[in-house]
Amino acid sequence: MAIRAPEFRAYIKMPTIDDAEILAENANDPDVARMVAKRGEFPHPYTKANASSFIEFAQFAAKSGVEFHFGIYSMATDKIMGMIALMRNQSEQDPKTMEVGYWLGKPYWGQGYAKEALLLALKFGFEDIGLDRVVAETTGDNARSIRVLEHAKFSRYAPDAQPNGANPDPKLHYELKREGYERLKLSDERMGRIYST
Ligand SMILES: CC(C)(COP(=O)(O)OP(=O)(O)OC[C@H]1O[C@@H](n2cnc3c(N)ncnc32)[C@H](O)[C@@H]1OP(=O)(O)O)[C@@H](O)C(=O)NCCC(=O)NCCS
Repeated sequence: MAIRAPEFRAYIKMPTIDDAEILAENANDPDVARMVAKRGEFPHPYTKANASSFIEFAQFAAKSGVEFHFGIYSMATDKIMGMIALMRNQSEQDPKTMEVGYWLGKPYWGQGYAKEALLLALKFGFEDIGLDRVVAETTGDNARSIRVLEHAKFSRYAPDAQPNGANPDPKLHYELKREGYERLKLSDERMGRIYST
């Protein structure tokens, strides 16, 4: 299954083992690793073997309905550029809440692909698997990621820890509830044209 919109230059779908080499090339970047590792484990250096085992895990997790790790692909080349996932978050008990996380290979930064991928993943989360809330974690030094979340109408929700010597960049917590998603759809007419193939 792929999720697309006619005017988007990115689409998302489950990665396959054929994507492993290019996925590893994109993931093998210290700036990607540094930011993603703030949320969970992310190998660096990132090898083709790392990518292959991750893709196997992603396929298994999707089949069992636990987590959904989509590749972000270029419409122009059909090559994988990065990943976006809806994952379980240990601090969220509600089964209708999932956490979104994403990364792109550096050559693809700053071209709007992450904003598109997030809209596609939100459509899948709220409409295809019936989530009521999507949360995200980032840090104050990740201005690009914050802009991506704000663009999709996420807002800050938790009393975030204050920076201190031991933890200069504490996590910022963002959420998008179903009402916010409905407002997002009204404000961005492209969302009504998202479809699955
Ligand atoms: C986060 C990430 C996916 C964003 O990708 P991207 O391609 O830059 O995102 P987009 O182009 O879709 O949008 C980026 C937004 O940040 C803005 N931006 C671009 N460069 C910026 C900069 N240096 N500082 C602040 N904002 C910047 C863009 O203008 C855009 O906002 P706008 O539409 O309001 O103008 C990418 O930077 C990445 O993979 N980073 C490493 C992994 C990561 O941090 N993941 C998120 C963990 S929480």
